[in-house]
Amino acid sequence: MAEFQAARMQHTLYHADCRTVLPELEQRWAGQARLIYLDPPYNTRRQRGARRQFRDSNARWSDTLRPAIESAFRLLSPAGFLAVSINQTELFNLKPLIDTVFGAERFVGLFPVKIRHVQRQLMINATFHDVYEYLLIYRRDKAARFESARRPPRLEQFKHTVTLLDQRPETREIQGKRVDIFRPPQYELGTTSNGSPGLRRYVIAGKLATANWSGEWYETHLRPLGDDLLIRVWGLELQGLGYRWFQTGNRRRRSGVYFQSLGAAGRPILPSNDIDYTEVVPTIYREGGAGCDFKDSKKPEALLRMLMEICTRPGDLVMDFYAGSGTTLAAGIKLGRPVIAIESDPQALSIIHTRLENLRSGRDLDGIAHCFEVKASGKASGGREPAVSPRRVSTVHRSIETGD
Ligand SMILES: C[S@@+](CC[C@H](N)C(=O)[O-])C[C@H]1O[C@@H](n2cnc3c(N)ncnc32)[C@H](O)[C@@H]1O
Repeated sequence: MAEFQAARMQHTLYHADCRTVLPELEQRWAGQARLIYLDPPYNTRRQRGARRQFRDSNARWSDTLRPAIESAFRLLSPAGFLAVSINQTELFNLKPLIDTVFGAERFVGLFPVKIRHVQRQLMINATFHDVYEYLLIYRRDKAARFESARRPPRLEQFKHTVTLLDQRPETREIQGKRVDIFRPPQYELGTTSNGSPGLRRYVIAGKLATANWSGEWYETHLRPLGDDLLIRVWGLELQGLGYRWFQTGNRRRRSGVYFQSLGAAGRPILPSNDIDYTEVVPTIYREGGAGCDFKDSKKPEALLRMLMEICTRPGDLVMDFYAGSGTTLAAGIKLGRPVIAIESDPQALSIIHTRLENLRSGRDLDGIAHCFEVKASGKASGGREPAVSPRRVSTVHRSIETGD
């Protein structure tokens, strides 16, 4: 096991079969990992090239993988995600295996990852030109969401006001929620006059009546209560006011309306599963610097960056039980996420050590190197000044200080 500090953050690399280390990790880290990335051997059964070296053939592939998936379930925090890289050989065995351990309801999605140009056909004896790999993503808890930016709300739409002229509503409980009902003339609706933000008004019609939570709630529980009622439903707008206002329809306007506050506004910009690394893969051998080629198996740092950005925040714990050439470690160091990585193969481990040394000494200039500025400590780099090229200047400044 090697432990090292980068950006004053602890990273750990185990030289072991992951199945022997995972019970120990669970004792210390159960429920704490925010992202577990697994890139196991794909079981391609191809016996040529790099595959021969790594003996990528295993008749009991699912059984070998199961302990890692089970541990991942116990190590993830409720907000955590599992992402597994795979190609089509085992995709349809992997999905039922993870479904059994995590539950099919925790499946987030299949992310096809384009890795080859359609025109660049190298395997002329193959039946067809396979240009995709896949990522299977699961979440530990059904409430877990990807980190995503929000589109800012348009303030001019928040101009409606609710004024209560009589504070004594009729109160009921509907579906476990407290509901306050005001009748005319207990209330007045208007618009803001002094420029301060009010509420946004939505007419509950079309899709809003059938495919929107508030709309459905209105149609099912509030519309039958009568015309022209102003209704406050507690617990329907948790991020905003803590309650949501509705007004029922009348003879002139059959549709009801609901009001949204600024605190609950701003739609998330969702990540998509349109992932294309065809431009990155031809030069992937350069990522990590000289001596870090890892034929057929290495993942782009950009893939780990994407996963870390949608599944974690800086400082969140990331794990990788099949570290290979150390792509997850490198990305974690560059993006400020502590990583626990495991790798069983001595040759792969020696590539990881080269990669870390390259990173420490300023010789890792590809991948997502622009996120990272190297400040090698005198001790670790033998006193040499790292070569810091202008490409390294960035808003994120991190340093890797000691190594093993
Ligand atoms: C597909 S490669 C991972 C490549 C890595 N994502 C990268 O970007 O370099 C799979 C790695 O898992 C390692 N491995 C296979 N079985 C393992 C096990 N039981 N425990 C730990 N590592 C294992 C292999 O030695 C190989 O390096």
